[in-house]
Amino acid sequence: MSTLTTAAVVESAGTGFALSDVELDDPRPDEVLVRLVAAGLCHTDLGVAVGALPFPLPGVLGHEGAGVVEAVGSAVSSVAPGDQVLLSFTSCGNCANCRDGHPAYCATWLSANLLGGRRADGTATITRNVQELGGHFFGQSSFARRALADARSVVKVGADAPLDLLAPLGCGVQTGAGAVWNILKPRPGATLLVAGAGAVGLSAVMAARLSPATTVIAVDRVPARLKLAEELGATHTVDTTETDLAEAVANLTGGRGVDGVVETTGAIPLLRAGIDALAARGTAVIVGAPAFGAEVAVDVNHMLAGRTVTGLTLGDSETQTLIPVLVDLVTSGRLPIDRLIRHYLFEDIQQAVEDVVSGEAIKPVLTF
Ligand SMILES: NC(=O)c1ccc[n+]([C@@H]2O[C@H](COP(=O)([O-])OP(=O)(O)OC[C@H]3O[C@@H](n4cnc5c(N)ncnc54)[C@H](O)[C@@H]3O)[C@@H](O)[C@H]2O)c1
Ligand SMILES: [Zn+2]
Ligand SMILES: [Zn+2]
Repeated sequence: MSTLTTAAVVESAGTGFALSDVELDDPRPDEVLVRLVAAGLCHTDLGVAVGALPFPLPGVLGHEGAGVVEAVGSAVSSVAPGDQVLLSFTSCGNCANCRDGHPAYCATWLSANLLGGRRADGTATITRNVQELGGHFFGQSSFARRALADARSVVKVGADAPLDLLAPLGCGVQTGAGAVWNILKPRPGATLLVAGAGAVGLSAVMAARLSPATTVIAVDRVPARLKLAEELGATHTVDTTETDLAEAVANLTGGRGVDGVVETTGAIPLLRAGIDALAARGTAVIVGAPAFGAEVAVDVNHMLAGRTVTGLTLGDSETQTLIPVLVDLVTSGRLPIDRLIRHYLFEDIQQAVEDVVSGEAIKPVLTF
């Protein structure tokens, strides 16, 4: 017997989100039925909705869900009905990278989270009048009043955890924080550059403030975002519409360069400028996602001084470990992500999309 619910369905590329009645399959042994309380909106949802990624449409997106467990499959012991949970990406749990504690690099990652739209065995989790919809997005498809989530997407939080504040931990926040804490691991006195002061970049700035890095340079082209970056921990800002980044970094670092770069704009010239700005032994982390097939050139001799360029998915986070830590930091006020969030009713999802596209909202969170 399936569960009836209302989802924000993307009918085809570019049509936007429209509420529609759908049916969820019954939980399989390793699945959890969740009643959504809140869900963050991320650029990856928008990219799929406009057809930039080949996810099967019509479909249901959403990958920063937060809610209450209503039912669990027979093999689920990590949560029980009534538990409050955050939803994040899924993974197989069995491949070499999963066993090694790096589920964001799971062998099944792309199909299970981003492109497949179905369970691993090819069955649909969401249907509408017998028509199969694309679902299982990041193991959740949480733009719906109820979601059928993979147990590995589900992280239990406390009964009093403020879900409408915590929803974005599942993607944007853990990505920015993980770039700093899991990859750059700044040494005392390190200098970091964060390109892009959006949801991911500002999360990196806040994470850097909780590290021994002493100089944090935020880069954007929107003055209001740079001002917010300063309030959240950036020691310096660079507006690329009026200042040359290379010159600014040279001035701020006495010509030495920066120890770490978190590139979240997806703009290739900024990525190149970030790599060029690295000090010897510095690392540039690629987080922003440009169009498929995009390439960047590097000066090979510049790289010889121990410089590293690395890509990053979801902060390389082990969600069951990192998300509870983030919950603790947010609820104790040390990671003030409320400064990034604007709330919208679920039925106003299209307004949230417009506001994030225009840059007016940094991190929309839908409430149900
Ligand atoms: N790798 C991952 O796992 C992962 C996870 C989440 C998001 N992402 C990607 O990270 C990127 C950032 O996400 P977000 O939610 O922070 O987006 P966002 O739009 O909120 O932030 C991007 C910021 O970059 C700035 N920017 C863009 N081009 C610029 C330029 N040429 N010069 C200066 N500033 C510029 C924008 O003004 C904006 O403030 C997106 O591409 C998203 O798809 C990747
Ligand atoms: Zn995301
Ligand atoms: Zn795996």
